[in-house]
Amino acid sequence: MRETTTGTILADWQADHAEKFGREPLKLKHTLHRSELFSDDRLARLIERADRSHYHVNTRAKGPDGKKRRREGEFGKLTGMEVLEAVRKGDIWINLRAPQIADPAYGELLRDMYREFEARVPGLQTFKHITTILISSPNVYVPYHADVPGQMLWQVRGKKRVWLYPNEEPYVTRSAIEKLILGELHEVDMPYDETLDAGAQMHDLKPGEMLHWPLNWPHRVENHDCLNVSVTTEHYTSAIRTSYAVHYANGLLRKAGISNPAKQEAGPMALAKTALAGAVKFSGLRKKASKPYTIDFAVDPQAPSGVRDIPPYALSL
Ligand SMILES: [Fe+2]
Repeated sequence: MRETTTGTILADWQADHAEKFGREPLKLKHTLHRSELFSDDRLARLIERADRSHYHVNTRAKGPDGKKRRREGEFGKLTGMEVLEAVRKGDIWINLRAPQIADPAYGELLRDMYREFEARVPGLQTFKHITTILISSPNVYVPYHADVPGQMLWQVRGKKRVWLYPNEEPYVTRSAIEKLILGELHEVDMPYDETLDAGAQMHDLKPGEMLHWPLNWPHRVENHDCLNVSVTTEHYTSAIRTSYAVHYANGLLRKAGISNPAKQEAGPMALAKTALAGAVKFSGLRKKASKPYTIDFAVDPQAPSGVRDIPPYALSL
């Protein structure tokens, strides 16, 4: 087994990073950009092997209101290299959501990434690891949002700019986080305007750099003018699970008319809320059918924008 205290993934770990982990943004150096797992050949193979239920490919189109809207597409019969060629020149982003299913080497990498953190941060125990490989066109951006689990962003190829905003008002409200966790967040619940940037941290990420930010911190991302390959990892800890359960229960209480339920980190009320959240989740009371996606374009390296329209069809992912 690999030695994880000296590890080969984290490249510039310092003793003081341990106490900052999860509490403040950490920008660290890593070695993923030197791994052959992210060569064109390996990525092309991964694209070819990705099951339809394990990838998203998106582009943008102007809607009738003049706003850009996200479209969902497919790779069709293209080779992986042809898909990469289209991404290089188009306005496309690809999420390969479960690369370890197509190639177990990515699962081993994910396990090693968290093993290295756990070997360095005393008491850290993480679980429910998920990784996604993002392959995106020059200048693609990801709008202002927050995520439910613990998050890391690892830059492998190209450059991107990341803005991080504290998990507090005016950047985000507790009610917005509750809705996010209940799966009921709408754009209006977490509005972005440029004045928020005054309180943001801005980081340019180049290959071999990664960011980990505290739970639920809003962020937005913009690619520089180049193809980007990045990896996101998600995880839970027992503290993140408690926070999730308390937000979940508070979201239910708020819907039931309680105006501003307290946010406990631990203790009997946190336990009671964990039980409430668990009971409601397991009862299936809030289970909603997931809405099918409308697939209306195919990646096409011959098309000027890298995509062409196809007759729309519905797909449940
Ligand atoms: Fe995110």
